[in-house]
Amino acid sequence: MKIIVLGAAAGGGFPQWNAASALNRQAFAGDPNHPRLTQASLAVSANGDDWLLLNASPDIRQQIVATTELHPKTAPRSSPIKSVVLTGADVDALTGLLTLRERQPFTIWATSYVRRVIDANPIFDVLDRSLVTFQTIGESAFAPLPGLTVTTIATPGKPPLYLERIEGIGATEGASIGIRITDAKGKSLAFIPSCAELTPTVVDGASNADALFFDGTMFTDDEMIRTGEGQKTAARMGHVAMSDVVSKIPGRKGRHFIHINNSNPVLNRASTERKKIEDAGWHIAEDGMRIDL
Ligand code: MLT
Ligand code: MN
Repeated sequence: MKIIVLGAAAGGGFPQWNAASALNRQAFAGDPNHPRLTQASLAVSANGDDWLLLNASPDIRQQIVATTELHPKTAPRSSPIKSVVLTGADVDALTGLLTLRERQPFTIWATSYVRRVIDANPIFDVLDRSLVTFQTIGESAFAPLPGLTVTTIATPGKPPLYLERIEGIGATEGASIGIRITDAKGKSLAFIPSCAELTPTVVDGASNADALFFDGTMFTDDEMIRTGEGQKTAARMGHVAMSDVVSKIPGRKGRHFIHINNSNPVLNRASTERKKIEDAGWHIAEDGMRIDL
């Protein structure tokens, strides 16, 4: 299985358009210790030719341009992207679908919750349903590409920010899922970019994968309040803090944090927080990182 990190940042990216903290200013300035990151997404392939995207971030065009494997190769129009699996309906997880609108066939896999959100918004009708097929992620395993089998990891979450007024902030079935992908050799990848609680199911699903990309939104629960960048804790946003994750899921080769918010001090490669995470055996994902399992 081939894995490419298309984007490692949380919603807003790094730097975020309106963020003027020291961290973000270093990234705007191009400091090599503060590499810029696009919004979280992975590309996965069994054969190196056909690719599955995990989430479709608002930065998808830039990510495709930056990734040779995803360039169209057959004229006049084509794409190695054959399938997209969505783990939620947040802006940073699905608005990239709007970029994939140029009459190209591919398949989108989403929970019935996420499909309902998409169906309720007519802007997604830019995806011509005679070419773009929607499939529902349910209980059973599915194969978004030949040679790759996907199962879900039940992951506590909440409805997207833009639905909080209508739906509230309580746990909602299918609003956010983790996924596990296994290839024909039995190698496995777990992608859990949004997780509100470290349940035994989550810890188990995360611990057993050969490659793991886990919610690394914030380093500490209250970091945005302390820096004056926001009013919300990580928990209120549906995320666990990195410091709790490393205490429950021991680090080793293949364990990565992804979906890193622009307030997280680990974004500075020279920070003490980054060192703590790396000393615990975890890695911070960065755009363009490639893993072959
Ligand atoms: C999140 O991960 O909490 C959301 O993507 C936040 C947002 O919608 O900006
Ligand atoms: Mn997000």
